[in-house]
Amino acid sequence: MAQPLNVLLIGAGEINFGSVEGPWNHTLRLEKILGPRLRVVALVDIDASRAKAAIDAKVASPTTAGAYSDCKILPTVAEAARSLRSDLPQVAIVGAPPFARGTDVPGRDLELQLVEAFPRCALFIEKPVSSGPEDACWRVAEALAKNSTLVGVGYMLRYLQAVQMIKTIIADNGLVVMGTNARYVMAYEWARKPAWWDKTRSGGPIVEQATHFCDLSRYFGGDVNLPSVVAHTVQHNEPPGQLSAKRFDEDAIPPEHRLPRLTSATWKYKGGAVGTLTHVIALHGNTYDTEFEVYADGYRFKLVDPYGTPKLYIRRPGIAEEEEHIFANDDPFHTELGTFLDVVDGKASKDRILSSYEDAIKTYELTWAIRRASETAAEAY
Ligand SMILES: NC(=O)c1ccc[n+]([C@@H]2O[C@H](COP(=O)([O-])OP(=O)(O)OC[C@H]3O[C@@H](n4cnc5c(N)ncnc54)[C@H](O)[C@@H]3O)[C@@H](O)[C@H]2O)c1
Repeated sequence: MAQPLNVLLIGAGEINFGSVEGPWNHTLRLEKILGPRLRVVALVDIDASRAKAAIDAKVASPTTAGAYSDCKILPTVAEAARSLRSDLPQVAIVGAPPFARGTDVPGRDLELQLVEAFPRCALFIEKPVSSGPEDACWRVAEALAKNSTLVGVGYMLRYLQAVQMIKTIIADNGLVVMGTNARYVMAYEWARKPAWWDKTRSGGPIVEQATHFCDLSRYFGGDVNLPSVVAHTVQHNEPPGQLSAKRFDEDAIPPEHRLPRLTSATWKYKGGAVGTLTHVIALHGNTYDTEFEVYADGYRFKLVDPYGTPKLYIRRPGIAEEEEHIFANDDPFHTELGTFLDVVDGKASKDRILSSYEDAIKTYELTWAIRRASETAAEAY
């Protein structure tokens, strides 16, 4: 039988164990990708009962019991270091909230704790890299690089077949991207976690949610000239910002912590292109409306519904009609983790990881630049 792979899970929440809200569920992908090789050595979570429930469910199922039968439930990385001396993890899936990671502040430094406890362990880290100050993220990046830690960050949209098709056409035709246009219209009716609606806790709609579209924008447009970012918002207390279908008590959130309903931002990339982002909290029900466009001489790529069934519409030179490509059954979470594990196994080179830690910090910086610019503008107008 192939060698088992020891996996350490950090976080017993939705990203690692799934939710009704979306397709994310890293343990399901690990089970599919690794099959009988998967050996989860521990789950670290400060919430022991949530962790126990998650592992109990895995052990209760005959298809997953084997992978989790030795799994220890532990409250901290330090405890894991003591318990796993003879069972070192080769990969850690870091799915704790951003406030617990991405800095060198004790208690908010999961990466540094992991590097110290398990220096040879590869880290797959969820987005956004942190909720702390950006300069602290760079110090973490330095420590990870110094230790030669293999890192991948969970910007899974980069792994979509449609996104890779755009990349290939750009490369094959020597195109220079002229602009990106990201449009993310959220359906808010069933978004009921009060923490999400409090920007001091979630980071707000750009840092927490539109981060995927900011990242995709950077994937095509390159590095952003951060001081060029301009942004405006519709605030919660302005007439166009009244929402009628909220299913939670927003009054419990202090007014200055509440989310803007619409954020519209533009920026200049260092290479000369222009980026645009519109994020809106407006739709009822639970179907989001998301589109992402890339422009270059002779070309317009329009990616529709990247979180659902991605469709790519392409206009090319000399052809008036647009081409349509539909990507049914494309699972970017599977491709992202499969690629990362191939690199861990030495079956693929490191450059197949499409989101490095340093690159993910740059996306984090862009999202904060948008938030800050929008807050400054909101005070002025
Ligand atoms: N890529 C995606 O599409 C996607 C989807 C969902 C979530 N995420 C990201 O995954 C991360 C986690 O989100 P979630 O929805 O699973 O959150 P969650 O609140 O459902 O779960 C987080 C878990 O982490 C635990 N935790 C908190 N602090 C900890 C610490 N210091 N050490 C260990 N465990 C700790 C909590 O007790 C909780 O069980 C976030 O950064 C989120 O943005 C990404």
